[in-house]
Amino acid sequence: QFSDFVKVVEVGPRDGLQNEKKILPTKVKVNFINKLSATGLRSIEVTSFVSPKWIPQMADNQQVFQQIEKRSDVSYPVLVPNLKGLESAIATDVKEIAVFGAASETFSKTNINCSIEESIRNFKVVVEEARKHGIRTRGYISCIVGCPYEGETKPATTAHLASIMLDLGCYEISLGDTIGVGSPRKIKRVLNELFHVSSNDMSYYALHCHDTYGQALMNIYMGLENDIRVFDSSVAGLGGCPYAAGASGNVATEDLLYFLEGEGLETGVDLCKIVEIGDYISKELNRTNQSKTAVAILAK
Ligand code: HMG
Ligand code: MG
Repeated sequence: QFSDFVKVVEVGPRDGLQNEKKILPTKVKVNFINKLSATGLRSIEVTSFVSPKWIPQMADNQQVFQQIEKRSDVSYPVLVPNLKGLESAIATDVKEIAVFGAASETFSKTNINCSIEESIRNFKVVVEEARKHGIRTRGYISCIVGCPYEGETKPATTAHLASIMLDLGCYEISLGDTIGVGSPRKIKRVLNELFHVSSNDMSYYALHCHDTYGQALMNIYMGLENDIRVFDSSVAGLGGCPYAAGASGNVATEDLLYFLEGEGLETGVDLCKIVEIGDYISKELNRTNQSKTAVAILAK
């Protein structure tokens, strides 16, 4: 039915590890990322340059970024919330950043300590400064369907923010169903609003699904049907946001790859290698592997 290439953005080292109680040693993170680099992935979000008081799990961001082996055909984006984070990223020779906002005022305040309006002013400064340094910027919008504090969010709020972020120069907007409350019909409502923002060109968007209610793959299917060709995922289904209580991991990369292969879509990513890496990192974290595909393949 779908006959083209799908880009998988691996967010395990960032979204995955930011929410784990156990803080892994830097060398394990580096090993984890180096293994991911050899799977055919084209983009691996490796860490975030945020306040270590807010997210202590990412406090070794500069060391991780400096120590990983960088392949020329892989992008290694990092999260950056403000100029301070950008300055550290520039000093570490980062080539791609992601700024992150939300379609909910309360989530914005809780996650980045400012209103949506203030966050937009902040994005402008960060994206402009990044551009001057040849750094490209991806944008995230959290809570596109629902917020842990405010309940359902309005598709129009996401569309408004997406339009601003694209105008500021973000090359792509990753649409976050942060707490995984979306179901296909709700995702479709958001995508319908976004068609208008980008004159029906959906190549500006990615879907970032958390699997809290087991809806992620169905939501991704809805994304595919609406011409989305970029999906974020985490090996072993790691992930969550410390400021979104109860949110579980991202859709597992293993499950996403199995699904996409089944649909006849090309990703260039080696599922077997991803399964091994998911097993490795789950053991390092003393955590049960959340990917059904991985569990099935490992049981063979
Ligand atoms: P703030 O407290 O308002 O900031 O935090 P501040 O400017 O008042 O600074 C407070 C302290 O933090 C100062 O240190 C700063 O130097 C320091 P002090 O003087 O007290 O010693 N600081 C920093 N240190 C290192 N790097 C920085 C930085 N900035 C300030 N960049 C801030 C505002 C945005 C910094 C804070 O709220 C923060 O770091 N938030 C990040 C939260 C986060 O990382 N959340 C998870 C990622 S988002 C997510 O998971 C969703 C996503 O996956 C998509 C989805 O699923 O929807 C992307
Ligand atoms: Mg997330």
